[in-house]
Amino acid sequence: MQQRGKLLTLAAFALRVVATDRIEAVRAVFRRSWDGYRQYAWGHDSLRPLTNGYYDDRNGWGASAVDALSTAIIMGEEEAVQQILEYIPTIDFATTSTEVSLFETTIRYLGGMLSGYDLLRGPYKDMAPSEEAIESLLSQSVRLADLLKVAFNTESGVPDNDLLFDPEPRRKGTPDNWIATIGTLVLEWERLSDLTGNIEYGELAKGAESYLLRPPPEAEPFPGMIGSRLWVENGTFVDSMGGWNGGTDSFYEYLIKMYIYDPVRFESYKYRHVFRETLYFYSSHLACFNGGNFILGGLVLDEPRYVDFGLELTAGCHESYIQTVTAPPESQIEFYDEAGFWIINAQYSLRPEVIESCYYAYRATGNIMYREWAWDAFVKINATSSAGSGVSSVLDVQRTNGTLVFWDFQDSFWFSEVLKYMYLILLDEDSEVHVKKGERGTFVYNTEAHPIRIFES
Ligand SMILES: *[C@@H]1O[C@H](CO)[C@@H](O)[C@H](O)[C@H]1NC(C)=O
Ligand SMILES: *[C@@H]1O[C@H](CO)[C@@H](O)[C@H](O)[C@H]1NC(C)=O
Ligand SMILES: *[C@@H]1O[C@H](CO)[C@@H](O)[C@H](O)[C@H]1NC(C)=O
Repeated sequence: MQQRGKLLTLAAFALRVVATDRIEAVRAVFRRSWDGYRQYAWGHDSLRPLTNGYYDDRNGWGASAVDALSTAIIMGEEEAVQQILEYIPTIDFATTSTEVSLFETTIRYLGGMLSGYDLLRGPYKDMAPSEEAIESLLSQSVRLADLLKVAFNTESGVPDNDLLFDPEPRRKGTPDNWIATIGTLVLEWERLSDLTGNIEYGELAKGAESYLLRPPPEAEPFPGMIGSRLWVENGTFVDSMGGWNGGTDSFYEYLIKMYIYDPVRFESYKYRHVFRETLYFYSSHLACFNGGNFILGGLVLDEPRYVDFGLELTAGCHESYIQTVTAPPESQIEFYDEAGFWIINAQYSLRPEVIESCYYAYRATGNIMYREWAWDAFVKINATSSAGSGVSSVLDVQRTNGTLVFWDFQDSFWFSEVLKYMYLILLDEDSEVHVKKGERGTFVYNTEAHPIRIFES
């Protein structure tokens, strides 16, 4: 008995040593990308690591800095945190010459600042340099939301996703909008209302969401699954083509997340989720990240079969990595030898979904196999994408022309998502930022992986 206890302790110790080494390795990868951004793209949105330039793909407000904040806080990267906190008050959100996306701006900038606020007011308060620095995150969030809210100025209240700020904030006039870009605002906007006491922000987002929660029968071809786009002027559905993909996925994701955020106010949201008896029918539509969302739903609703379904999806994604190793198409053998991951789509743009689902799977089961899967993916992504002064999206991992073709672009979600989920899966079990099994926990992650503090009455 005693012997066995000792062995278990030893095994736990060995695991911790491995985790500590890996934690340091993830931080080193963060620093490499961050230093590249600091040196060559500071104050701009994204680093171009191969040419040591920058790209202002998110209105030039410094997207990578804002998107990196919550990750830097959780990693304890104090210098980066200081740099970002000094920078954020200087952003002039009113000024940009390029089109503003309500959705992207909400999940990256608003989500990033609100998350920084919640973390520094909560478990990471020791990292806050000053009261002023924290308050500035909230006042800048208000400034930004006040500029964005013109989007909801439609007959129906369904927002126009596309805005122009120059010379004055106004709608671009796009006639329709996707359910993901309508339905992935409510967490950030409601949080802003709860933090400021001004209900307007949450009301705008919930008003738009109401069209998605109560679709007419013809827009709900399968129970729980609704059409993809709405006309912004009258809030009717353009189509009834359900799906779970780029234009729709995070609408479903946020339903369960809102229920976690406040199960009283958002009780009805949980019933709209695709968690139905017909669940399996949809499996062919589902892509990798949804594994994590189903696991989360199963944990929160205490429905083990949803957890199991999510684990199956996650395993399916993992399979798509390893199967390619056993049976690569002739043309891709060389690539597999080196990178070892899947090439269904020739482009790899630093997306996090596989590691994200592994994180939820690990939290649900405690099975370290998921840690290993995530680590393998991370090492391969890093090996393939590290380029110049940071990491780069790869345009053609198939090497059609005999060489890897890089896009020369380090998207800001590399910081907020990939590095964060990899770090979280290695982080101390009892950290307050973790998704918890059997309880609500303290934080819920927005779709850009920014942890938002759940509502406490
Ligand atoms: C809603 O607006 C669209 C686009 O203008 C139009 O085609 C559609 O007929 C309208 N639907 C209703 C019910 O008014
Ligand atoms: C990531 O890539 C860099 C550059 O190739 C390398 O130095 C580092 O060891 C890699 N880290 C991990 C965790 O694989
Ligand atoms: C491969 O090379 C050809 C000819 O130079 C070029 O037109 C094509 O865009 C290249 N393909 C990729 C994926 O870079």
